[in-house]
Amino acid sequence: MAKKRILSGMRPTGRLHLGHYVGALENWVSFQDEYDCFFEVADWHALTSEYHNSASIAANTIEIMADFLSVGLDPERSTIFVQSHVPFHAELHLILSMVTPVGWVERCPTYKDQVKELAAKDINTYGFLGYPVLQAADILMYRAHVVPVGEDQLPHLEMTREITRRFNNIFDNVFPEPQARLTQVPLLLGLDRRKMSKSYDNYIALSEGPENIRKKIAGAITDPQRMRRNDPGRPDYCNVHAYYRAFAPDKADEVAGQCTKAEIGCVDCKKMLSEELIKWLAPIQAKRAEFTRDESTIRDIIAEGDKKAHAAAAETMEWVHKAIKF
Ligand code: TRP
Ligand code: SF4
Repeated sequence: MAKKRILSGMRPTGRLHLGHYVGALENWVSFQDEYDCFFEVADWHALTSEYHNSASIAANTIEIMADFLSVGLDPERSTIFVQSHVPFHAELHLILSMVTPVGWVERCPTYKDQVKELAAKDINTYGFLGYPVLQAADILMYRAHVVPVGEDQLPHLEMTREITRRFNNIFDNVFPEPQARLTQVPLLLGLDRRKMSKSYDNYIALSEGPENIRKKIAGAITDPQRMRRNDPGRPDYCNVHAYYRAFAPDKADEVAGQCTKAEIGCVDCKKMLSEELIKWLAPIQAKRAEFTRDESTIRDIIAEGDKKAHAAAAETMEWVHKAIKF
């Protein structure tokens, strides 16, 4: 039986961090045996909000590819490609926009939030309004059955399903209705306990060097009730301990025991964690170095992925053209 298809994507807005790993990449890597996987660098989606700074998008596309490959996304088994290199996405976006009611995009909760939140970025544009329609085009282009996403993306998946039903009704039954698959991992907060995010500088990049790791972890917020070295701590509450559970699980119980008995201080606890993280990241960073040693390596891998994606997209577009009788 043919494998089911997965598609997911990320916008190239910066280097990926530990939050991306536990929130998405770890799952993506594990899907590669069971599914026919398509992983996309969504550079046009980045352009919807970063158009003033478009040169950074191309640079970040290479960075995010290096991150993808370093954690074990495998171009032999999966199709890893760049959205704008497959211009069919723009055509399908256009066709889907014909059947998408204005109210659906205007009422999209992520749209309303973002326009408020990113007021400085001036995203009151036609392109940004169409963000979820472009995302629907990504998903339908590969007739994906399953779309692994975080909770924040659920409104977009819901809209994709509505657009799918509408297209299939009006034209022909071309597209399967894609299912969202929530990446259900404990949320890893940033070092300051806020959401881990590039804009807060509270993250550890997958490519972060040892000195930076030590510095950043040293500044991490622990259990705020543990004021003095002799106060017992609450590892279940402490964010540093969440990092132990994720990246040094064999040390997590021991540290928790020492913490609740005030046998270990936060400074030492964090120093140990830094070394664990450095060790954990070492193989990922070694792989990254291999892929980035020669400039053409990543470009060649992207070109291969683009070619595979293009072929799959061309097949879908043939069906689409037939359905709309063009
Ligand atoms: N909008 C997604 C995000 O910001 C990225 C994305 C683009 C995506 N196209 C996609 C995710 C298709 C899943 C499927 O995270
Ligand atoms: Fe957190 Fe470690 Fe301090 Fe306990 S000792 S509060 S686990 S940093």
